[in-house]
Amino acid sequence: MIRSVVCGYGAALPKRVLSNRELEDIVETSDEWIVQRTGIRQRYIADDDETTASLGEQAARAALANAGLTPDDIDLIVLATSTPNNTFPATAVEIQNRLGMKHGYAFDMQAVCTGFVYAMATADLHLRGGMAKRALVIGAETFSRILDWQDRTTCVLFGDGAGALVLEAREEEGTVADRGILAAQLRSDGSHREKLYVDGGPSTTGTVGHLRMEGREVFKHAVGMITDVIEGVFTATGTTADDLDWLVPHQANRRIIDGSAKKLGIPIEKVVVTVDMHGNTSAASIPLALSVACDDGRIKKGDLVMLEAMGGGFTWGALLVRW
Ligand code: ACO
Repeated sequence: MIRSVVCGYGAALPKRVLSNRELEDIVETSDEWIVQRTGIRQRYIADDDETTASLGEQAARAALANAGLTPDDIDLIVLATSTPNNTFPATAVEIQNRLGMKHGYAFDMQAVCTGFVYAMATADLHLRGGMAKRALVIGAETFSRILDWQDRTTCVLFGDGAGALVLEAREEEGTVADRGILAAQLRSDGSHREKLYVDGGPSTTGTVGHLRMEGREVFKHAVGMITDVIEGVFTATGTTADDLDWLVPHQANRRIIDGSAKKLGIPIEKVVVTVDMHGNTSAASIPLALSVACDDGRIKKGDLVMLEAMGGGFTWGALLVRW
């Protein structure tokens, strides 16, 4: 059967680092409070000349170089983002243009922090359905642009960045020993809207709006939702936590990551954590974490890797891939 196999990865971060100490000058907070409650030590913040499209393009070019491919080899771009450059056209199409591509097709996917899992699952269907042969799946965000910088309960949590993978349709055996995406579970429930949303938009206020969150409420649901979809993927593939080489979670909060791993019986040594360096970069956090763990040699060809995320909507999902 056809599987969507990862053949390249890349990442991009803004030039400017914002430490917890610097945040102490902006809102009433402390490095100690932020580290203790979230595990975040710093985040990257886009300058005026850095956008979701420019960061996404940079990550895409890095992933193509890593795969030994050029934009000519790609026929699909799926960009997960909640912070597009414009309401339309899709930022994916802008990235396609920046890459000099006149062929193929590109679109944005909006599932907030779960965006990258949704985008991977969607690209997988396009590749397995024969619509495309090679896809760039990108997660890129500039959440700094939708933060209320006077609200200490949210502005300390998020950061900007981008990551990308190249997926290629390849013939495999049809077993869990195959390389490529093996299974995914996606969920959403709009009744949780008020717990995490942006208070603006084209059809309501005509403005971009700011992120609003009831952090404690999000926290209460996160671990249960994440473990639920991961267990669903284990059941669908006949695998268990013991089979996993790596869990690469959405990087929202160290306590959510630790709580989910503990509930699933996954030792923390098998969990890739980058929230300390990047903060919560929403749809970019998983590909950024993947890039770090591939660069330092932790994730290797043949490893069984579980991706998971939960975010605004609520949306949540998990995806199992053999590297
Ligand atoms: N600095 C100092 N004090 C703060 C800050 C801050 N930045 N923010 C809040 N506080 C204060 C609060 O005002 C409150 O003070 P009070 O007791 O005098 O009223 C106190 O700290 C405790 O506030 P809580 O909200 O109860 O703190 P909590 O322990 O729940 O931690 C946090 C807050 C970190 C937001 C936590 O609830 C959380 O991680 N929630 C998950 C939300 C999340 O990660 N969302 C990301 C987006 S969704 C996703 O990606 C999954």
